[in-house]
Amino acid sequence: MTNFNIVPNRRNPNNLNKWTWYPKDVLPMWVADMDFPAPKPILNTLHRAVDHGVLGYELPSKALKETVAARMDKLYGWKFKPEAVIAVTGIVSGFSVAARIACTPKRGVLVQTPVYNEFHEVKNNIGVPQLDAPFVKHVNGNILSYEIDWDIFEKQVKKAGMFLLCNPHNPLGMIFSRKDLLKMAELCIKNNVLIVSDEIHSELLLDENKFTPLAKLSSEIAKHTITLIAPSKTFNIPGLFCGFAIIPNEELRGRYEKEVNHLRLHVSSMGLFASRTAFSGECDGWLKELRRYLTGNRDFLVEYVTEYMPEVRLTVPDATYLGWLDFTQTGIDGSPFEFFLKNARVAVSEGKIFGREGEGHVRLNYGTSRKILEHGLERMRKALKSI
Ligand SMILES: Cc1ncc(COP(=O)(O)O)c(C=O)c1O
Repeated sequence: MTNFNIVPNRRNPNNLNKWTWYPKDVLPMWVADMDFPAPKPILNTLHRAVDHGVLGYELPSKALKETVAARMDKLYGWKFKPEAVIAVTGIVSGFSVAARIACTPKRGVLVQTPVYNEFHEVKNNIGVPQLDAPFVKHVNGNILSYEIDWDIFEKQVKKAGMFLLCNPHNPLGMIFSRKDLLKMAELCIKNNVLIVSDEIHSELLLDENKFTPLAKLSSEIAKHTITLIAPSKTFNIPGLFCGFAIIPNEELRGRYEKEVNHLRLHVSSMGLFASRTAFSGECDGWLKELRRYLTGNRDFLVEYVTEYMPEVRLTVPDATYLGWLDFTQTGIDGSPFEFFLKNARVAVSEGKIFGREGEGHVRLNYGTSRKILEHGLERMRKALKSI
């Protein structure tokens, strides 16, 4: 049994991280990594590599690609050849490469807002237009939910070169329904738009929720899709920067791989070692316990907010350790992120970085011990009471 109530001190002075970015009295609940150590089998693999002592250049092995393919088969019954797997230096690099091959100044990147802040950087980094398809927001009591506005999606997809899907969604925490996935894919294929499905959060499922990769839905969809996955969020190893693009379409894969090579996007050997162990199944017991703990944290967050800050609205995530909170009804003057940083000494993520719909909202990372979560929420409650 892993004790997720105990988290290591991350205030080491070496580098900037979640715990050292802000002054010492600030409780960090922002950037998307968890406060838990990675599972033992991964740490053992890394120890072995260090003990061996030679840290030379390494390239992804056939065995690693087979491990990735076997995991997709085991989890979802999704079958593809191991050659379809390309290692990338993270998911942001992965979708940035895709934008380089699929977008032009006339055919932009379609995103569903509010969405992960790095999705908004593609336009400047790659120099292509961004096409927003904002979700429709629903409020039921203090619970928020979001759905696709199909009129806007259909209008925007016609101008896109690539659709960058986030499933499960950051920051909204939702898993898209099969029906929605099929419709989005159909519209993309009809308009000759490449689908890039960022599924980095797909193994962080809460409750008994299930997930199906978009590309698993049909061979036609798989032909038009680049799926991006990584063990980084699931097993809390994002600092090792290793992810995978799964591209069953050989022609598309060739173009993608060429770009990855041109940019010399080599994954570090530690990332490759750790990923193989992460996807081997050896860490699945840990993952099961983690999901249970995160589900408890999600429930604690929703119950706490509902009871002690009823004017605050929030999502009930299906997956991820990210909550999305709406402070527009609370009387906070200006940005709630600034308000809580100043008055609660809690650092959450500023809602506006996820798109203009995020104004008055924040993202809160509950991938921490229950005690730290409770402490952060208490500080926020007190600050709100003082308005
Ligand atoms: C949806 C999504 N994609 C990508 C990333 C980052 O991936 P990487 O660090 O592998 O580039 C994150 C991190 O929060 C994320 O939430």
